Amino acid sequence: MSTLPPRRLNIDNINPHVRVAKYAVRGELATKAEEYRIRLENGDKSLPFSKVISANIGNPQQLDQQPITFFRQVLSILEYPKLLQNGEALKNIFEFEQDVIDRARTLLKSVRTVGAYSHSQGVPIIRKSVARFIQLRDGFPSDPSDIYLCGGASSGVNALLHIICADRTSGVLVPIPQYPLYTATLSVLEAQSVPYCLDESTAWGTDVHAIRESLSKAKAEGVDVRAIVVINPGNPTGASLTADDIKDVLDLAAEERLVVIADEVYQTNVFIGEFTSFKKRLRELQLEEPVKYGNIELVSLHSTSKGMVGECGHRGGYFELVGFDQEVVAQIYKFLCIMLCPPVIGQCLVELMVNPPKEGEPSYELYQREYTTIQEGLHERALALYEAFNKSMEGVDCQEPQGAMYLFPQIRLPSKAIAAAEAVHRQPDEFYALRLLDATGICVVPGSGFGQKEGTLHFRTTFLAPGTEWVERIVEFHKAFMDEFR
Ligand SMILES: Cc1ncc(COP(=O)(O)O)c(C=O)c1O
Repeated sequence: MSTLPPRRLNIDNINPHVRVAKYAVRGELATKAEEYRIRLENGDKSLPFSKVISANIGNPQQLDQQPITFFRQVLSILEYPKLLQNGEALKNIFEFEQDVIDRARTLLKSVRTVGAYSHSQGVPIIRKSVARFIQLRDGFPSDPSDIYLCGGASSGVNALLHIICADRTSGVLVPIPQYPLYTATLSVLEAQSVPYCLDESTAWGTDVHAIRESLSKAKAEGVDVRAIVVINPGNPTGASLTADDIKDVLDLAAEERLVVIADEVYQTNVFIGEFTSFKKRLRELQLEEPVKYGNIELVSLHSTSKGMVGECGHRGGYFELVGFDQEVVAQIYKFLCIMLCPPVIGQCLVELMVNPPKEGEPSYELYQREYTTIQEGLHERALALYEAFNKSMEGVDCQEPQGAMYLFPQIRLPSKAIAAAEAVHRQPDEFYALRLLDATGICVVPGSGFGQKEGTLHFRTTFLAPGTEWVERIVEFHKAFMDEFR
């Protein structure tokens, strides 16, 4: 039998920067969870659980969060405008309200069809809606020409980091723990992640002294630190920055000439206090000291993936640029043009997110009820999980949930468990998470996937999965694990 010629590509000759990039949220554990899911679907009865719970990823609708009716009704007409030919059926059979039909007509007038490419920066009237939303939220004007619609915040971050990082000496300050989009993209770009640690003892506070230390160290090592990422509210920590915390970061950015990347995708997932945007705080400070803060470059990002919208499969998002040089803006725009345009249906969803039904409009009551039910459910489940971690699990310490969709408890494991992990060449938190998955079907992400202070161990779980039975399964597993390695 003749042998096939070798393939041109192999693991040793592809882009090495892709190979080294790490993205634990969909890593080995997630792959194994998927295998378990398929085995269960195929009737495998040998597993000690009957359901896989993907608590590894903030994917609300995969975990049964229901879509907001108004959004889906409008989108369905946008996908199939012929539905408008029978408005009576829409109303009488499918219970579409008149404002659904009106909104779909308005959007169709400017988009014409969701099947065509749009402007690379996004549909102009949708950018106008986003600017109006930002203005209402912050009390400061926003210009539609500074708004860029994108295919989820991820694609915005990817484009921006491509522009910000010039070569391997370019560095970006990244919080630890962080959502690994940042470190992974910097790895692919062969640029430097400059980690700064959030302070677990103050419920994962952003400590500007820690940032300054990391910055000085990186500069001494020859890194050209150009930007700082702040995730507010945080992933995986849920922590929100206060107006003072934001000022500290902006002071540092002004002094050190750092571009500020404010990842605000969880801005509506806030349980304690109020969300303050970086843009609002910057505008306030610019009024007080126009010279000091006048040239800060800020990009803030938002998304349809999280919050009570939870439509991450539709890939909608936007970023707003403030204070950038016009020649740089032109290059950002060119980069976006190379990718043609963000999904048009996702752009329409952005419009619905920033411009939902208003009081007095026919769809308002249902929208409000659905929104509040999701919001309250998230908070309830966050508290149930938090109580279970803190009250019923030996050696586990969790900060009070403040926002986002995750808890990030610290776990203190017996030395025998750490030795057992070493024996199979695993990080101890990875070993723990794998054992949890094997025993319960619950998939979490080891803290090492987000970065954690040396000598500490954590895991991240979402609190999206419905019910509390799975929380009890984590508690039972933990007890058995601790007993096994005591
Ligand atoms: C902090 C943070 N930023 C960005 C994203 C990506 O969001 P999108 O679905 O809008 O790309 C996520 C997703 O989990 C996230 O947690």
